[in-house]
Amino acid sequence: MSLETFLRSYPAYHGTRHLDRVRADDFPRLDEQGLIYLDYTGSGLPSRSQLRAYQRVIGDDIWGNPHSASVPSRRSTEAIRHARQATLRFVNADPDEYSVIFTANATGALRLVGESFPFQPGARLALLRDNHNSVLGIREYARARGATTETIALRPDLRTDLSAVVDALDRAETAPSLFAYPAQSNFSGVQHPLEWIHEAHSRGWRVLLDAAAYAAISDVDLSRYKPDFVPLSYYKIFGWPTGLGCLIARNDALAQLRRPWFSGGTVVASSALGGWHASAGPPDNFEDGTPDFLGALGVSIGLDYVRQTLDRDSVRARVRCLTEFLLVEMSKLRHSNGAPVCALYGPTDTRGRGPTIAFNLLDMDGNIVDERVAEDRAVECGIALRAGCFCNPGVGETIFELEPADLIRVGTMSAGLHTIEDYRAAIGLPTGGALRVSLGPVSNFDDILGFHRYLRSWCDHRTADEQLRTFPDRDRC
Ligand SMILES: Cc1ncc(COP(=O)(O)O)c(C=O)c1O
Repeated sequence: MSLETFLRSYPAYHGTRHLDRVRADDFPRLDEQGLIYLDYTGSGLPSRSQLRAYQRVIGDDIWGNPHSASVPSRRSTEAIRHARQATLRFVNADPDEYSVIFTANATGALRLVGESFPFQPGARLALLRDNHNSVLGIREYARARGATTETIALRPDLRTDLSAVVDALDRAETAPSLFAYPAQSNFSGVQHPLEWIHEAHSRGWRVLLDAAAYAAISDVDLSRYKPDFVPLSYYKIFGWPTGLGCLIARNDALAQLRRPWFSGGTVVASSALGGWHASAGPPDNFEDGTPDFLGALGVSIGLDYVRQTLDRDSVRARVRCLTEFLLVEMSKLRHSNGAPVCALYGPTDTRGRGPTIAFNLLDMDGNIVDERVAEDRAVECGIALRAGCFCNPGVGETIFELEPADLIRVGTMSAGLHTIEDYRAAIGLPTGGALRVSLGPVSNFDDILGFHRYLRSWCDHRTADEQLRTFPDRDRC
């Protein structure tokens, strides 16, 4: 298909053509290297102008550890304050209502909530089955402190009915309880309803809305929906810095958290001899040690870049056109015997979803092609995509229709599972993962055509010996 034909079916793409210039000016390395980058849910890409601006700022001034009164130190303190404000503006949050706590990544933000939330007997933790491992892991804190945990099931289309959510939230609780779900699935791209936040609040629950995947191109608006905790990783939004994320938290929810320790930066005073410490107020009492003050400069520059150059309305319009085209073409693609080439997971339209598509390739006989074999061919074709379970086991368990009894049985032998192969063998699956492509701000029609060529290369494929290969470099979920 030519671009002209594509534009006839997707006229909205026309209005996004200025992003082609952004790609040419700021991401020339993509076309210079001939790489088709389809892993924006894994990581966004930093623009050239962002990196140049950073190099200028950092090279022209002197930046010191923020904990003293020197000019370089004050400069760094100001950079951190500025990055905090820019983050609050980015999510349209009132500074009297929300605070930003810098962490190493979204996972660090999630751990802060897990370790500090007042879980106790009588409290509940409700987790949507579609959650990243870094959210699921909070259940270990909850369990250790005697709270009850439960997961809320997904429908086969990987969405969840409001009634299932309400059913979980209606169960009586006598202590502070937490409901955690992603605004956008990192596996399927499904965007779960933000109205659930109000449902949970009206029943007395705190809400953790994982926006790590969603914020990449969608706007979090904390003046409209008011979750208590929102973890983010900045690199997913603008590619760099890669070692900084944040927890955006409602001040009244922060006041309920209890940190299990103290450290440099989190206390106003402490005594080695007396064995006491006086905690600083939020956000300082949640930021352990020296903050990443040079990274904070990168945050302000990245957020400016997103606001001034990327034009997120156009980005969303563009990726919607490309995603819809891909979904249609993937659904249509057939082997010569009429069998489908792709098994798509999740909704097959673009309503209520981000530009992330999860699928497996099928051979002529309907067998799933091992996703790692498919990934290897993608690498040969110059395509960066993702294979595996994407740290989101609940969606994998849903699409492969795994039985709770089998999963519980395998759990009893989990200490003996050393690789993903051990897990596959124990659960009896020929393959344990899927493939994922995800689009971002400078994805273009040529990327999609290249990926479609790759898909067509699987037409009339018959699975042979590759299922017997081992993949020692890819031994984790
Ligand atoms: C939805 C979601 N939550 C949490 C995370 C964890 O983010 P990080 O690895 O940056 O801590 C990811 C990462 O892919 C994600 O997509």
